[in-house]
Amino acid sequence: VREEFFEELEAKLNVLAEQDLYRSLKTYSGVDFGSNDYLGFAHDEELRQKLSNSLSTVALSSASSRLLSGNHREHLLAEQCFAEFLGVESALLFNSGYDANFALLTTLPSRHDLILYDERSHASLYEGVHSSHATSIRFEHNSPEHLEASIERALKKFKHRQIFIIIESVYSMDGDITPLQVIKEISDKYSAILIVDEAHGTGVVGNGGRGLTSCTINRSPDVITIHTCGKALGAAGAIVAGSRAITQYLVNKARPFIYTTALPPIVPLQIVNSVNKLKAVGDELVAELLDRSQFVRSALRSALKKWIVPEGITPIIPIIIGDEGAALKASFVLEDEGFVVPAIRPPTVPAGTSRLRLNISLRHKKEELEKVVEAIIKVEQTV
Ligand SMILES: Cc1ncc(COP(=O)(O)O)c(C=O)c1O
Repeated sequence: VREEFFEELEAKLNVLAEQDLYRSLKTYSGVDFGSNDYLGFAHDEELRQKLSNSLSTVALSSASSRLLSGNHREHLLAEQCFAEFLGVESALLFNSGYDANFALLTTLPSRHDLILYDERSHASLYEGVHSSHATSIRFEHNSPEHLEASIERALKKFKHRQIFIIIESVYSMDGDITPLQVIKEISDKYSAILIVDEAHGTGVVGNGGRGLTSCTINRSPDVITIHTCGKALGAAGAIVAGSRAITQYLVNKARPFIYTTALPPIVPLQIVNSVNKLKAVGDELVAELLDRSQFVRSALRSALKKWIVPEGITPIIPIIIGDEGAALKASFVLEDEGFVVPAIRPPTVPAGTSRLRLNISLRHKKEELEKVVEAIIKVEQTV
C-alpha cells in the first residue's frame, strides 16, 4: 500500500507538469519584479542599521507562545505603535497574514452567522471561510450590486445573527481597488462587520501608507483591517486592527494565535522601525511609488497588442496572457533577459487568465523600469 501511495503522488505531479501547472522552488536571479517589497524597505540601509543596533540585546527567539512566556516588550511595542499609526483602539500581531485571516474567520463568525466574501479573495481568506462554521456566500468581484442582492437573497432564506463582509483593499493578483465606500454603506445598511484585508494596501495607498480604509471611511468598531508586515513594511507577520473587544477575543479564542511560538522579537522591532519611517516620509514614498507604477502601466497599455493590461493605479500590474504555457514561457524568456516576472496560473487565478504579474518597487531604478517595459513588448511578439 505504501508503494502505491508514492506512485500515486508521482502520477499526480506528472499530471500537473503536463498541464503546465507544476510548481517548483527555485532561487531567482535578475531584477526582481515578483516581490511585494513595494517601498524597498526589505533592503533599506537605514532600517538595516537601526535593526542591527538592537541585535546585541534582543532575544533571538520568543521560544514560546505569547500566552506563556513568549510575550516580549517588542511585540507589545509593535501593537501599540500600529494602533497609534492607524488611529484604532487596538492592534494584535499574528505570525503571518495567512494566520491572521484564518484566525479571524474561524474565530469570530459562529454557525449562526453569514459571511459574504469577494470571489477574488486571497487563499487565506478562502481557507478561513471554508473552515468557519458560518454560512458563506461568494459575491462577484468588486460588485456592490451583487453583494447586496446576495444579502437580500440570503435574508429571505435563512435567519442569521450577524453578517460579515470580507474584501481586500487592493487585490493581490489584479492590482485593482475595492469600491470601499459603497461596500461600507451596504455594510452599515445591514449592520454587518466589515473585514478589509489591507495586505497590498498597507504602505501603498492611503494617508502616509495607512491603507485604503484610512482615506475612504471613518474607522468604527464594525471595521476590522488586516495589515501584513512582510510586504511593503519589509518585515514579517500581520496586524489585525480594530476594537479592543475584537483583539481580546482573538487572544482568548484564536487557535493560530494561542498555539504557536510568537515571532522572534526582532521582527516586531523591524515593524516599529518601518511604521516610524512611514510616519516620517510615508506620503512622499507612496506618491513616488504610484507615480512610477503609472509610468510603467501606461507604457505597457499603449504598446502591447495581444496581452491585456487593465487600467489601474497600484504597483501590481497584471499582464493577462490567457494560456498557462504561454505565461510560463514569457516568464522564462524574461528571466533570460535578466528580469524576474513570475507567471501566475490557476488555481491562483481563474482558468484562461494566466498572466505575468509585474510588481513595481521603489527599489527599482528608473532605467530598469524602462528596460523591463521594452523586454515585455519584445517577448509579446515572440511567445
Ligand atoms: C491579500 C493577501 N492576504 C494575505 C496574505 C498572506 O500574508 P502572509 O504572506 O503574511 O502570510 C497575502 C499574501 O501572501 C495576500 O496577498
